[in-house]
Amino acid sequence: MNKKIVALLSVAAVASTMAVNVSAEEDLITVGYAQVGAESDWRTANTESFKSTFTEENGYKLIFDDAQQKQENQIKAIRNFIQQDVDYIVVAPVVETGWETVLQEAKDAGIPVILSDRMMDVADDSLYTCWVGGNFVKEGETCANWLVDKFGDEEEVNVVTIQGTIGASAQIGRTEGVDNVLKDHANFKILDQQSGEFTQAKGQEVMESFLKSYDDIDVVICENDNEAFGAIDAIKAAGKTCGPEGDICVVSFDSVKAAFEAMIAGDLNATFECNPLHGPRVAEIIQKLEAGEEVDKIQYVDEGAFDTTMDLEAILAERLY
Ligand code: AHR
Repeated sequence: MNKKIVALLSVAAVASTMAVNVSAEEDLITVGYAQVGAESDWRTANTESFKSTFTEENGYKLIFDDAQQKQENQIKAIRNFIQQDVDYIVVAPVVETGWETVLQEAKDAGIPVILSDRMMDVADDSLYTCWVGGNFVKEGETCANWLVDKFGDEEEVNVVTIQGTIGASAQIGRTEGVDNVLKDHANFKILDQQSGEFTQAKGQEVMESFLKSYDDIDVVICENDNEAFGAIDAIKAAGKTCGPEGDICVVSFDSVKAAFEAMIAGDLNATFECNPLHGPRVAEIIQKLEAGEEVDKIQYVDEGAFDTTMDLEAILAERLY
């Protein structure tokens, strides 16, 4: 074959590969995910769930944004997604309020918004397509019922709470759920509650200040596992003990692998599950919407509860997050 023909054939081959790539790219469903941040083990598992689900092999192009726990960053990310004309926007909102304007912008652009994990508090619920996540109020109630079972109705029980990010659904719901139950058990006294921002470092800081202010704490409710890890460090540093055999009962939410390790080590009493594996659930919703099907507006995921009476080693061996 002469050199000219070889060159022409190679140019044609490259052009056709490019055309295939361009059309393959065009076939992908583009999803913008406005994530809260990377504040906890739960959040890392949630991010991983989205990244491993929304892959090119599965037919998606994922544009991921980490808002570093700041609502203004999430609003900026959503506006960027709108500018890029994505097919779907998924948001795990940092807090519940303040979303109307940007949701209206997405609606005007014709882009469906799916809420994942935390909720938004908007008067017009047509501004988002649906929500999928944990039942935070129920998680709080389950936790408080566990405490009532453990301590009963006679003994006086002094409780402090390390709350999550104030205004986040997980904080609002868990605080409300605990209150719903404990208000009917007068022997439980809430001494104090402060935000630990769902982080280990802040959880430790808040517990250190509680331990300085109160010498009679019986229970610390941590609104996520990472805050509990910080609280455990603070309790030990103060010369006290915690867990089933210790001075202070520590309970938390999420049920990440490290919480099982803390229970096995005898430091944590119980953890109430919040399932972070939302990627496949959101993908299922998107596939239904693509097929022109209706989706349920509110979709709760299944969640359990774990304490030291269980075979934790066996559960941990099967745990996905
Ligand atoms: O919204 C879910 C909560 O957010 C999880 O409990 C926590 O770990 C995360 O930061």
